[in-house]
Amino acid sequence: MTISVAVSGASGYAGGEVLRLLSNHPDVTIGAITAHSNAGQRLGELAPHLHSLADRILVETTVEQLRGHDVVFLALPHGHSAEIASRLPAETLVIDAGADHRLESPEAWEKFYGSAHAGTWPYGLPELPGARELLVGAKRIAVPGCYPTSVQLALVPGFAANLLEPDDVVVVSASGTSGAGKSAKINLIGSEVMGSMNPYGVGGSHRHTPEMEQGLSNAAGVPVTVSFTPTLAPMPRGILTTATAKVKPGVDEATLRAAWTAAYADEPFVHVLPEGQWPATSSVMGSNHAQIQLAFDPHAGRVIVSAVIDNLTKGTAGGAVQSMNIALGLNETAGLAHEGVAP
Ligand SMILES: NC(=O)c1ccc[n+]([C@@H]2O[C@H](COP(=O)([O-])OP(=O)(O)OC[C@H]3O[C@@H](n4cnc5c(N)ncnc54)[C@H](OP(=O)(O)O)[C@@H]3O)[C@@H](O)[C@H]2O)c1
Repeated sequence: MTISVAVSGASGYAGGEVLRLLSNHPDVTIGAITAHSNAGQRLGELAPHLHSLADRILVETTVEQLRGHDVVFLALPHGHSAEIASRLPAETLVIDAGADHRLESPEAWEKFYGSAHAGTWPYGLPELPGARELLVGAKRIAVPGCYPTSVQLALVPGFAANLLEPDDVVVVSASGTSGAGKSAKINLIGSEVMGSMNPYGVGGSHRHTPEMEQGLSNAAGVPVTVSFTPTLAPMPRGILTTATAKVKPGVDEATLRAAWTAAYADEPFVHVLPEGQWPATSSVMGSNHAQIQLAFDPHAGRVIVSAVIDNLTKGTAGGAVQSMNIALGLNETAGLAHEGVAP
């Protein structure tokens, strides 16, 4: 069986990463690849690493170009997906890397994005409790944000096992610059970023905060409050998330470790490292893997969990392809089996 796939936003980082993964997918034929200001360009000029697709020409992102494929990936700025998806046939699998359909709460969407809520689609983080069941056969999938992927993978096992207090979760994440997309921004040029780190979106204002709270609250069964601070790190890819939460009375280190280990024992892409070995972003670069380590700080009564992902792979395109595989009944790891590229 060959599945025809169109990729919109193919001139951007997320769309380009979808193409990189699909070019190694055994069941897929790549059809239309679309762009906006770069429509008409040869892909090889913009993404020279995509050798097998170098001579393909980017076309304008229109419903007409995207229609007629079995699967359509949307890797567009947020706010652009709903209109396109509504005009694609119901039987087309539409996978949105943007934020438009991730949030369940219209109020949270309007508060953080300032526009009308477009609705909620099945959420493409298969490792969450019950998520795979909702993805099987789905025709619309919302791919999680990159930070929320790392934070949910870090903390959901503890909330699902009722080991953590819901009202004192603190997360600090460092992200590589590709997390902000490919368009030129002064704060992302080399001179500003190299050899330096800075926080941004401080004080609960980052748009990924409600998405993290949604996933953790669903796992906990009660509302979870997250204090989230992102930082920008001098690397092109990768996220290092450090998440801490107060543990419930009587919970000890062995109980914590057992919960995380059990949660990911059968997962092909999420790995709890051997005790004492802490994750590094370089280990997962270019791969769909996430690595996790945790420790109990008895003095503070907190669990500290570090998680690393590649923001463009497990944090976007890899999660999207993994979700596609589940939705279509393919091998879940198809196109995703490669290791990281450290150092
Ligand atoms: N970067 C990440 O790590 C990451 C992680 C998770 C989710 N995402 C999400 O993925 C989506 C794409 O992000 P990105 O990082 O790939 O951004 P990007 O590198 O800036 O790429 C944006 C893409 O959208 C196209 N585009 C821009 N304005 C458009 C418009 N008005 N109409 C149609 N297409 C338009 C661009 O085309 P031209 O270049 O031809 O103008 C480009 O192909 C975003 O919703 C983002 O939140 C990104």
